[in-house]
Amino acid sequence: MKLLLLGSGGREHALAWKIAQSPKVSQLFIAPGNAGTNNAGTNIDIKVNDFEAIKQFVISEGIDMVVVGPEDPLVNGIYDYFRNDEALNNIPVIGPSKAGAVLEGSKEFAKGFMMRHNIPTARYQSFNGTTLDEGLRFLETLQPPYVLKADGLCAGKGVLILPTLDEAKKELKEMLGGMFGNASSKVVIEEFLSGIECSVFVLTDGTHYKILPEAKDYKRIGEGDKGLNTGGMGSVSPVPFADKEWMQKVEDRIIRPTVEGLASEGIDYKGFIFFGLINVDGNPMVIEYNVRMGDPETESVMLRIKSDLVDLFEGVAQGDLDKRTLEIDTRSAVCVMLVSGGYPEAYEKGFPITGIDQVDGSIVFHAGTKMKDGQVVTNGGRVIAVSSYGANKAEALQKSFTEAQKIQFEKKYFRRDIGADL
Ligand code: AMP
Ligand code: GLY
Repeated sequence: MKLLLLGSGGREHALAWKIAQSPKVSQLFIAPGNAGTNNAGTNIDIKVNDFEAIKQFVISEGIDMVVVGPEDPLVNGIYDYFRNDEALNNIPVIGPSKAGAVLEGSKEFAKGFMMRHNIPTARYQSFNGTTLDEGLRFLETLQPPYVLKADGLCAGKGVLILPTLDEAKKELKEMLGGMFGNASSKVVIEEFLSGIECSVFVLTDGTHYKILPEAKDYKRIGEGDKGLNTGGMGSVSPVPFADKEWMQKVEDRIIRPTVEGLASEGIDYKGFIFFGLINVDGNPMVIEYNVRMGDPETESVMLRIKSDLVDLFEGVAQGDLDKRTLEIDTRSAVCVMLVSGGYPEAYEKGFPITGIDQVDGSIVFHAGTKMKDGQVVTNGGRVIAVSSYGANKAEALQKSFTEAQKIQFEKKYFRRDIGADL
């Protein structure tokens, strides 16, 4: 079959790497992809939100399945676009409907959904411009630190955690005053939860689900998890505290109620669900839902899936995911992200990258790269993920750190403490 994957980051390179291993796939296209995805398939120059161009390509190439990497096209309704188009409605899209993507697209909806289905999450209330005064009073009833979340998509920047009541009040006023445009016209204020985070992923056909390997990501730029938030500096899988007992709680209290809740609300959902969890005294609670795989979690999770991912996708499309097998590699997998100096603040692009061909035994996933005059150059803040297997986490990390030294570009930086907290 011919498959089209949408997206251009490290997550998409890892998905492309896995998809390309499937004996079911004769051709893989990635739109728009990066300098690395071109080795797993063929890049095509189409933007992920240009549904009309995607349609033309799917028809002219005879594409049999579309897999959506990032949330944006999902929130914009690419699934529904295919279902409602006569020429496309028999082509499966792996990703939820627009109604399902709201789980990520609106924090207020996600919180309400969890309340309706009794899914453990932080206590909260939601406010808008006309209820600012109530919002300020609600803050006074909470203990510091204060968690403010813009309702809509803000490219990962919409959550503020403030140490004092004064700062929280000031930020609430600014958010409701348009700090993130329309995305913060509503703000969710919630109780701060303290614990270690863990990302859990499932693939669902709307009725059945398969639980993929869990992972932990490292968001801050600095070692010791200090400094500004980034798109992710590395990831490890498995996560030691996510043992059998804990994962059973996750399945019983969170995964099953979520999948059943979506079905009971008549929401068409055939794709990945990403549960951003926090372990509070041994009990998992939901911090957020995403409607796609995580980045950089995918760059370690894909290494641990032994089964044919495309066979699982077919199960999603055909509604018989329960009949497909998911075999998981018991080894550890990790990824270490090489980033541009200066990131996540201002940084330069266009530096030549050398040494990728020297890497031996690790898997290199491109994130922010492109080809320029036959040379791979940096093209983003997060540039390359170096992923490795190991008999245990320490061995896998050692491998990634060693191989990461071989890849060179000006002002390269990476964290050497990925996984060290676990
Ligand atoms: P989100 O975009 O919802 O994932 O939030 C970004 C980050 O903020 C999360 O990964 C957590 O580290 C943190 N966070 C969000 N909500 C809470 C909460 N209620 N308590 C503590 N930390 C939180
Ligand atoms: N790693 C977190 C995310 O993909 O949103």
